[in-house]
Amino acid sequence: MDSNDDCFLVPGPVRMSDECLQALASPVMTARGAEFRDVMAHLNSGLRHAFNLAPSEPVRGVQSWAGDDDYKVVVVSGSGTAAMEMVIANRFRSNDLVLVPTNGKFGERVAEMCKRFCNVKHLQYEWGRAFDLYELEQQLERGCYESLLICHNETSTGITQDAAAIAEMCARHKTSFILDGITSVGGTAVHPEEWNAEAVVIGAQKCTAGPSGIAAVAINSHFIERVHAIREQGDSNPNYYFDMVSALKKGDDDQTPWTPAINLAMGWGAALEVLKNETNEGRWNRCQTMAKGVRNLFTDLGFEFLADSEQRSDTVTAILYPEGINDEWRTRLKDDFNTQVIGAQDHLKGKMFRVGSMGETPISEMIEGCKRMIECFATFGHELPQLDVDSYFV
Ligand SMILES: Cc1ncc(COP(=O)(O)O)c(C=O)c1O
Repeated sequence: MDSNDDCFLVPGPVRMSDECLQALASPVMTARGAEFRDVMAHLNSGLRHAFNLAPSEPVRGVQSWAGDDDYKVVVVSGSGTAAMEMVIANRFRSNDLVLVPTNGKFGERVAEMCKRFCNVKHLQYEWGRAFDLYELEQQLERGCYESLLICHNETSTGITQDAAAIAEMCARHKTSFILDGITSVGGTAVHPEEWNAEAVVIGAQKCTAGPSGIAAVAINSHFIERVHAIREQGDSNPNYYFDMVSALKKGDDDQTPWTPAINLAMGWGAALEVLKNETNEGRWNRCQTMAKGVRNLFTDLGFEFLADSEQRSDTVTAILYPEGINDEWRTRLKDDFNTQVIGAQDHLKGKMFRVGSMGETPISEMIEGCKRMIECFATFGHELPQLDVDSYFV
């Protein structure tokens, strides 16, 4: 990493590789021809890998969206929110009841979205606090919930939910389990099959370092059965563009119901190829090395974190500003130190900053970025202990 280079340490959209950018700049092609179906097959296969599912052939006409497991992947034109809305709108009837525990902005958004399409019991925990699993268990024991939905990795607060424990509870209580995996899939361990997750959502611009405006969902056969059954009963929520039945009709043939986001699909396919070369485990480990380094370094520097200590995320770290420092620090970090981190949302604005450790960010960039953050604090008169920053990232 050159000391003049910019450090872009945000929790998405992240920097795209040259491979991805070149693919985005590919010449136009028709939306229904063999050429685009090849693009979709390549993307589907890359997505199955990113979702940690059984592999599929990146070849048109051989069901690239399916594999030797119970899941299919469906590409959605739109950002992660679009894919999440597609899941919720199609999976539930207006009189279904779902359970949504939250501890940050994006979980709360899941609850808000559910309210548009069904009934919701919203268990609202303080931002950054772990869910009370005992309370979840008690709720599930009531036996009235069609599904439990979570934001797996809460980007607004830097907390990762204990998905394995929640999945086990859902299985015991025969309740379906759905995850917003928008900043977890591709950046930290996600096991849709082991967790018997009915649906997991990914957004391209986060851990897989693809372009903004395209997303996908991995769904299992129970999800698909429910979507069809609800449609046949005439009980579907209103929706047209995000109709899962239409998407499922086209998927066998590596197609989408409407004009696909052609160049975004090409760009994301190329980014997923970079992930494949690194391997999921390789990327999860690199993200963890960076997040762990940031956590340990800033702990030793005397900072505090928003998220509960046992569940701090490996793709985003939320660090509280020390007394007397606010977002002016972030502006100076960008303007004078060529380094970007992101601020907080809603009621936490100005009280903390968030460091992204996702996508293809090299460890050297994170090290350089941390050194600049420390220097920037010094310009505010906030002197910090002298530490060997590099040693935190081995
Ligand atoms: C966990 C999580 N869920 C949902 C979203 C919303 O995704 P999008 O902006 O792609 O619609 C974000 C965006 O930051 C996120 O981090």
